[in-house]
Amino acid sequence: MARKKIALIGAGNIGGELASLVARNELGDVVLFDIPEKEGVAKGKALDLEQNGAILGVDAKITGSSNWADCAGADVVIITAGVPRKPGMSRDDLLSVNLKIIRNVGENLKKHCPDAFVIVVSNPLDVMVYELKRITGFPAKKVVGMAGVLDSARLQLFLAQAVGVSVKDVRALVLGGHGDTMVPILSNTTINGIPVKQLVAADKLNAIIERTRTGGGEIVKLMGTSAFAAPATSAIAMATAYLKDQKRLLACAAYLDGEYGYKDLYMGVPIVIGAGGVEKIVNVELTSEEKAMLDKSAGAVREVLEASRKL
Ligand code: APR
Repeated sequence: MARKKIALIGAGNIGGELASLVARNELGDVVLFDIPEKEGVAKGKALDLEQNGAILGVDAKITGSSNWADCAGADVVIITAGVPRKPGMSRDDLLSVNLKIIRNVGENLKKHCPDAFVIVVSNPLDVMVYELKRITGFPAKKVVGMAGVLDSARLQLFLAQAVGVSVKDVRALVLGGHGDTMVPILSNTTINGIPVKQLVAADKLNAIIERTRTGGGEIVKLMGTSAFAAPATSAIAMATAYLKDQKRLLACAAYLDGEYGYKDLYMGVPIVIGAGGVEKIVNVELTSEEKAMLDKSAGAVREVLEASRKL
C-alpha cells in the first residue's frame, strides 16, 4: 500500500510541530505548504525534520512548498494558515484577516485535494471551519475543526493536578464554541468513573473551569503568541483516528444540521472519527444548566458567523 499523503497548510509554529508528529508517528509523507514569501521557511523546516527522521529512524518524505500542485491528492489536510493571537486579542479579533486566508485555501483545496479529510485549526475556529466547508462544498463528514480535544485536555490536566492523580485517569468533555463560552460537561467528567464533583470542591471546580476557558489566552500572554505543541497533538489525534479507522469518540467542531437543536452551524460536539470521516455525531444527555450554556455558546458562534457574512 502506498504511503498516505498529509498536506499541512501553514508552515508556522503549529505547522512545524504537526510535520514533526506526522513523521515520528510514520503516518505518511508530508507536504509543508506556505505562501511564496515563506517558501524558504517551509523548505528549511522540511529538511530539518527529514534529517531529524534519519536520527530517529523513521521513514517519511517531508517537502516544503508554496506550490498547490504539490498538495494534490492529499489524504488528509490540516489547516493552520492564518495569523495567531497577540496578547490582549480574542480569537474573534482574527476574523477579518483569517477569513481572507481560509477562503483562498478553500478555493485551492477544491481544485487540488477534493478527496481529503480536512481538519481546520485556524481561529476563530468554528467560523473558519464553517467557511472552509462553504467555499469547498465538501461533505460535512470530511470537514472538521480542532478545538474540543485541546480544551478537554486542558481541563483534564487541571483536574488531575487538583486531585493529585494521573492525567490518564481523567475523562472530560468540553463542548461548544472554541472561545470563552466553551462548555465543560461536568455531568460526564469523571476520574476513572468517579464523578468529578465528588472529588473537587465547587469553588475549586469553578476556578478550574475558568482557567480552561482562558487556557489559550494564558499562554498567549506568556509567550506573545499562541500555543503550538498541544494544538498540534490534538489535530494529530484526529488525523490518526481517520487514517487508522480508530472510531475514536472526540470532541470536535462538526457541522450541525439539527443535532443538539442547532442548524447550519459548526460547533464542538462529541463525534466518532473513523475511515468515513465524521461517522457519527453523538448525542449526550445534558443537564438544563449545561444546555443553557451550550445555547449561549452557539449564540456567540452565530454572532461571529453573521459578522463573517458581511466580510
Ligand atoms: N496559505 C498558506 N499559509 C498561509 C497563508 C495562506 N494563504 N496565509 C498565511 N499563512 C501562513 C503564514 O505565513 C504562517 O507561516 O500560516 C502560518 C501561520 O503560522 P504562525 O504565524 O506560526 O501561527 P500558528 O501559531 O501556527 O497558528 C496558526 O492556528 O491556532 C490557530 O490562532 C492560531 O489562527 C492561528 C493558526
